[in-house]
Amino acid sequence: MNPGKITPDTIRAMKMRGERIAALTAYDFPMTRLLDQAGVPLILVGDSLGMVVLGYPDTTHVTMADMEHHVRAAARAQPLALLAADMPYRSYDTPADAVANARRLVAAGAEAVKAEGGRAILPQVRAILEAGIPFCGHLGMLPQHVHEEGGYRVKGKTETEREALLADAQALADAGAFAIVLELVTAPVAAEITRRVPVPTIGIGSGPDCDGQILVTPDLLGMLPWFNLKHVKPRLNAAEQIRAVVAGWIADVKAGRAR
Ligand code: KIV
Repeated sequence: MNPGKITPDTIRAMKMRGERIAALTAYDFPMTRLLDQAGVPLILVGDSLGMVVLGYPDTTHVTMADMEHHVRAAARAQPLALLAADMPYRSYDTPADAVANARRLVAAGAEAVKAEGGRAILPQVRAILEAGIPFCGHLGMLPQHVHEEGGYRVKGKTETEREALLADAQALADAGAFAIVLELVTAPVAAEITRRVPVPTIGIGSGPDCDGQILVTPDLLGMLPWFNLKHVKPRLNAAEQIRAVVAGWIADVKAGRAR
């Protein structure tokens, strides 16, 4: 293996050293290559794919076939980064399903899988880990539950939610997860989980005190101006720049200046 290759142990060790983890999503070959060249240690082929690439209203429409197709594309970049993939909606209803589908993602090129939930999916998490597949947890707001929950809501505001999040994070850590994504968790609760649980926490909209941060890359690049997100300030206005460049090229074509 290339000595620079990032593994789940590298990600664990970053927490031990107090080194923050900057993770991003990618869904294809060029973006995976660019993020890797920029030095991102953890790249996730997220099921946000459904909303930011495939045009679905939420992640519940994403299939195993969709994920395999995009994981294969990302994996062709052969990143030094650890390449993780989301297990899509209903692909881990039972431990047997979870293992079979995690194996399909690994066969497509994923080096780890992520699924949403804590104690509720513990048998599935244990089965995936027993099959030798590194596992990343995902707690807080769970996008695959958007219909049951009636929307996207910040978690950890009540004492009951705080206790449940802590118990879920501890259960995932005890099972052997190498990291836990905390999505839209209140900043104090995310900080408490980060202090009390030995596994790296990777926040998205969960305050500054997680061990790392993850963003959906098109959100960071300002490619999707039709989503109005509170937790991310785009660092580029890619949508506007693409429209301007394309309009300029159309004008050049029409004027006979393009060749
Ligand atoms: O699907 C995804 O991109 C994710 C990130 C938001 C963490 O799960």
